[in-house]
Amino acid sequence: MTTATQENTSPRSEQVRRRDIRVSKSLLAVSPDIGKALTYEMTTHDDGVAATGGVFGMFLGAMGKGKSTLMVQYAQLANHVPGLAGKWDVVNLRNQHVPETVIWRGLEYDHWNCLIPEYWIQSFPGTHPKPIRLHMHYRDRLDFYIQAGKKKYRLMLSGEDIRFYNSPEQLYENLLQGGINVVYEPQEYYLSEKTLTRLLASQLAKKSDYSKMEDVRAPSAMWWYEFIETLSRIKARHEFYTLHLDEADDIFPFGAQGNHWHMIGWLTRSIIHLRKNNVSLLLATQDINLLDHRIYDRVNYFMWLPGSRPKTRVSMVHQNLIRTLPRGWGIVEEANSRFGRIRFQRIPRQPPVVQAVGLSGI
Ligand SMILES: Nc1ncnc2c1ncn2[C@@H]1O[C@H](COP(=O)(O)OP(=O)(O)O)[C@@H](O)[C@H]1O
Ligand SMILES: [Mg+2]
Repeated sequence: MTTATQENTSPRSEQVRRRDIRVSKSLLAVSPDIGKALTYEMTTHDDGVAATGGVFGMFLGAMGKGKSTLMVQYAQLANHVPGLAGKWDVVNLRNQHVPETVIWRGLEYDHWNCLIPEYWIQSFPGTHPKPIRLHMHYRDRLDFYIQAGKKKYRLMLSGEDIRFYNSPEQLYENLLQGGINVVYEPQEYYLSEKTLTRLLASQLAKKSDYSKMEDVRAPSAMWWYEFIETLSRIKARHEFYTLHLDEADDIFPFGAQGNHWHMIGWLTRSIIHLRKNNVSLLLATQDINLLDHRIYDRVNYFMWLPGSRPKTRVSMVHQNLIRTLPRGWGIVEEANSRFGRIRFQRIPRQPPVVQAVGLSGI
């Protein structure tokens, strides 16, 4: 177990520790400039000059290797260049970046509390964090606790910072534009015939099977399909969204059956449309093999962290290079095109994880 004193790294011990890390030559040969360029591309969604729209990114790494640490920072960084702006004023492109609306999938144990502006400023003084809003289903009453040592504190959020939704449409209405929206999926989710028909319309031949179907209780994570479909249908083109879906293997698991398998197919066919419609998806999971291959086949940016296992079919990064990654280093790749290295620190003074109490567990 790590004690509080070990956690506190004085500048001196940090130096010693850095010297202790032996970084392989092959890792040093990887370009940090490409790493920076790709990080920029992942976080800046340009509908102006480059007109690249949204991205489909994935963070991979063993437990504790920095997926969440990077994800929270990407949530703050996510920004976009509005449609027409850059075409008129290329020189000042950098001044036209607008903070992007983030939708963050809330988990039982999560790090979103460090995104609360008061905490974020303690970690990164002088920055201007995005405002935050928490969303839950109107039937759910989740409470949030922070475990600090032996004590457990209830995280108090003001009523204004919490919104309840009874449908994906209402959640959309309640989104805090330009802010971070932490969304807890409904704890009891019923997949309706209407939703299935909408999602699987391209397989109309099978529709008759669904029409006999009653609403079925489905794993809560499947609610995200309904939300993503609704968002892409009702959002305005000039609105930009980044969805952060951690533990993505709940939503796109390897070996899904029946309707779930078809829904993964629907999403993979929709990704290009989502990106063109300025929606970005950033997924995280511990191992690529936990996911349906149709999902990772569509990824256009990978972040390989220690312990991850790139697949030759989708990546040009070699497993041996990943083996040389010390903690705090990562390889960011534009799928099968180019890759670079990045370095990152832990989030200074990060508050302990927040625990959601009142989850149903399916
Ligand atoms: N570069 C780093 N150096 C030291 N500690 C780090 C670094 N990055 C992350 N950590 C710490 O490691 C722990 C696990 O990181 P986290 O981002 O939660 O991993 P994951 O989401 O991959 O499980 C956290 O306590 C975090 O503060
Ligand atoms: Mg994590």
